[in-house]
Amino acid sequence: MSRDIRITPSILSADFSHLKEEISRIASVSDLVHLDIMDNIFVPNFTFDFNSASKIIKESSLPVDAHLMVAEADLIAPAYAEAGCASVTIHAEALQDISSTLRAIRKVGVRSGLALKPSSKIEDYSEFIDDVDMFLIMTVEPGFGGQKFMTDMMDKVSKTRAIIGSRPIWLQVDGGISAETIEVALDAGADTFVAGSAVFTAPDPAEMVIRLRELCLSRP
Ligand code: DX5
Ligand code: ZN
Repeated sequence: MSRDIRITPSILSADFSHLKEEISRIASVSDLVHLDIMDNIFVPNFTFDFNSASKIIKESSLPVDAHLMVAEADLIAPAYAEAGCASVTIHAEALQDISSTLRAIRKVGVRSGLALKPSSKIEDYSEFIDDVDMFLIMTVEPGFGGQKFMTDMMDKVSKTRAIIGSRPIWLQVDGGISAETIEVALDAGADTFVAGSAVFTAPDPAEMVIRLRELCLSRP
């Protein structure tokens, strides 16, 4: 299979008091760093407000892939795009106007992502494909790191891959990705992998990123 692979470690499981250093540890081997924004409304957890997130985005040595798990995504997504992210992903379930929010992200020259919770069907959102640079299929319920990978989401990943067809849209999976699960997700059609606890609880996070990539690249 000739496909570009991207490994995007999530700093949710990193040391929040030394984030700049934590990002530096994986910078030379990762494609982007995944920044989870949670507002304690859309999900029962809180990570960063906009000001703290902006500081992380500015100081990051890697391009930032922001994953907005927030209720007011329509309002805040363009600000994240303007704050210097490389990509901004919003949840389909949180949006009132999906197309215009995706377009507002793109207008700033930033990649637009559309995320689906495990209970959401890709068929219900495929009409937005022309405004999407990346689909994110959640492989856990959003909100926390360290949860078990949901193998039953692989059917949705395959369906999404089929819907994408030859378009240059990335297909990301997020939740429970590790050396044990990445190949299953790759085989289903994913090409962009978020890994939080697998990377940042490893003795050597950079080595784990290299291992995850090698597992993908060595897959027939
Ligand atoms: C969960 C977040 C994930 C999280 C993944 O809601 O969106 O990005 O960091 O963590 P792991 O890889 O530990 O499941
Ligand atoms: Zn995430």
